[in-house]
Amino acid sequence: MISDDVQKLFNDKFGYDSSKVFFSPGRINLIGEHTDYNGGHVFPCAISMGIYAAYGERQDNKIRMFSGNVSDAGIVEVSLDNLAYNKEDGWTNYPKGMLVQILEHGYKIGHGFDLAVYGNLPDGAGLSSSASIELLTAEIVNDVFSLGIDELDLVKYGQLVENKYIGVNSGIMDQFAIGMGKKDQAILLDTNTLKYDYVPAKLGDRVIVIMNTKKHRELQDSKYNERRAECEEALKRLQVGLPIKSLGDLSESEFDENSYLINDDVLIRRARHAVFENQRTLQAKDALVNNDLETFGKLVNASHVSLHYDYEVTGKELDTLAETAWKQPGVVGARMTGAGFGGCAIAIVDRDQVDAFTKNVGEVYEKEIGHPAEFYIAEISDGPKEIK
Ligand code: GLA
Repeated sequence: MISDDVQKLFNDKFGYDSSKVFFSPGRINLIGEHTDYNGGHVFPCAISMGIYAAYGERQDNKIRMFSGNVSDAGIVEVSLDNLAYNKEDGWTNYPKGMLVQILEHGYKIGHGFDLAVYGNLPDGAGLSSSASIELLTAEIVNDVFSLGIDELDLVKYGQLVENKYIGVNSGIMDQFAIGMGKKDQAILLDTNTLKYDYVPAKLGDRVIVIMNTKKHRELQDSKYNERRAECEEALKRLQVGLPIKSLGDLSESEFDENSYLINDDVLIRRARHAVFENQRTLQAKDALVNNDLETFGKLVNASHVSLHYDYEVTGKELDTLAETAWKQPGVVGARMTGAGFGGCAIAIVDRDQVDAFTKNVGEVYEKEIGHPAEFYIAEISDGPKEIK
């Protein structure tokens, strides 16, 4: 049990027993990729792989943090009086950033604490380990100091951590999927209005297999911010002739009829992805509700193709996984999930074909790429919570 491990880790590092244990999930996105900063829809769910934290109270202003997943970093010690971003503080900038948000919104954190974290969510793998740790911190502080902050506000604070503290201009999908996660439910979120619907992830005899490229990437160093800027430029050009607020306002045909306004090949492709992916997401939700997994799978595949050719965020590793998955028996659909540039893909696979699937895809991947992929079965789970 990872929750036992994290308590042991706490005792080993800090020399006393922790008083509480918390858990925060990771997320996958079924479809609706790179739409959340374009006023579109996303369709993610929280997963049972995640991060555990053991907590112990301190009387002073110190915060000491240790991660069993980044043990080389050792114990990082900061003070509640100085939570400024510091590159050398590594992973602890995520909890620090969340504390800054909570304090800036006028809440009081009365004293310091010790924290040991440990999880089975691979970091830098596109399963939102950063949003997970942000909302884990939020859950702990909200609970321990009885702050009573709404989960939706904590989700928004998480996005502010990324945008203002870490420097990634990400949308709200990851924090929303994690903060609002519900067992066996996917969340259809309109990022324009923040209206959302839970949709039962009924896959019948199929399971979602997560395929990890094991190609690590950090969004700060990726082309993520560049893609966002390209979409903003395309929107500006469209707005010269159209009364729209975001690319998510456009149907496919409205886009086709007006794309000449953009007048640039690359920008047209970026914007086309955002518009078409948003519409695909709505269709995919209907297909899932109607138990039409065949249509759902085709939309999932089309999403990958668009992310490859129009948005150009896949890369050889993710393409090899998705394209090999498409050829396997019992697969209804496969695509990259998350930001791309490495990280993970997902495939929807007949339960009794999973062993053959992982064997075959694993062999092709290792031969083509030179290192093995990893496979996990996704269980759709609840958001952050205290577990002990
Ligand atoms: C990352 C970001 C999200 C979203 C996805 C792409 O995960 O954090 O906000 O933009 O990429 O869909």
